[in-house]
Amino acid sequence: MYLESRPLHDSFAREVQGLRLWEPMDDLTADRLRELWAQHPVMVVRRQALAERELAGFSALFGPLERVVRTEWASPVVPEIGFISNLKDGQGSPIGGLGDGELQWHSDQSYMINPATGAALYAVELPPKGGTTSWVDLAGAYAGLPDRLKRLVEGRLGVFSYEKRLAGYQGVDRVISSEAKRKTPPVLHPLVHTHPATGRKALYLDSTTTVGIEGMGDAPGSALLEEIYSFATRPEFVYRHDWQVGDVVMWDNGSTMHRREPFESTARRLMKRTTIFLSRERHIVPDGSLATKEQMA
Ligand code: SIN
Repeated sequence: MYLESRPLHDSFAREVQGLRLWEPMDDLTADRLRELWAQHPVMVVRRQALAERELAGFSALFGPLERVVRTEWASPVVPEIGFISNLKDGQGSPIGGLGDGELQWHSDQSYMINPATGAALYAVELPPKGGTTSWVDLAGAYAGLPDRLKRLVEGRLGVFSYEKRLAGYQGVDRVISSEAKRKTPPVLHPLVHTHPATGRKALYLDSTTTVGIEGMGDAPGSALLEEIYSFATRPEFVYRHDWQVGDVVMWDNGSTMHRREPFESTARRLMKRTTIFLSRERHIVPDGSLATKEQMA
């Protein structure tokens, strides 16, 4: 099948048209989609009507799916589907995670040594206003960085901590088991990677988890991170998605960050998401290491 697509923002965000994701996909079309995603880290497919198994089946074309780690956010039917929602069940318990608040610029699993970097988010129910999601192109941002900043960041390792992410969450989302805490110590990742398919360099960042830069000391590390974040999130690198029910947005966390605007707590929003282990042949997949106490200092 010929794939029709159009740019939504330079080359990094693209809409793919004419797909019916609820139907089985032939190998050639799936291959073309894999190629397209390697070139364009944010891909939008609109007007879909998907059962959870169909969303999971489509997502699995790109790599193994992760079972939702926070099981309280998982679909009761398909354990690889997570609910991002402010809705509550009949007992008043949240059916999913991340509520209605603002989510700052982040890359989903940056606090993991080997993050699953692919994500697909499917819009089921949307608030009348707010809840918009934006993505930033970290290859475009790297290319635009002044040489001075490129030199400062090249070869450096960032320290990424889940504790910092949790502190930014609302209410019960902050609470994780001691087992989960044990499994998420601070990790190190290079702040610059080269994309295996495009050859372009990209920043690897997450403002909700980075607590420093290895070997730089607190104040200079924080100052450099602040400078990099303020450059990388300039409007020219950002694609802002106005959701419509039935949209599927897929993104590559290896070369983008995303943020969500808050929405009224009385409004309803239900998104279903999958998390995908993307391949190292086609995508940047950070290969991290544990941060020691000395590296955190
Ligand atoms: C996320 O950060 O994974 C959720 C984004 C959204 O709710 O739009």
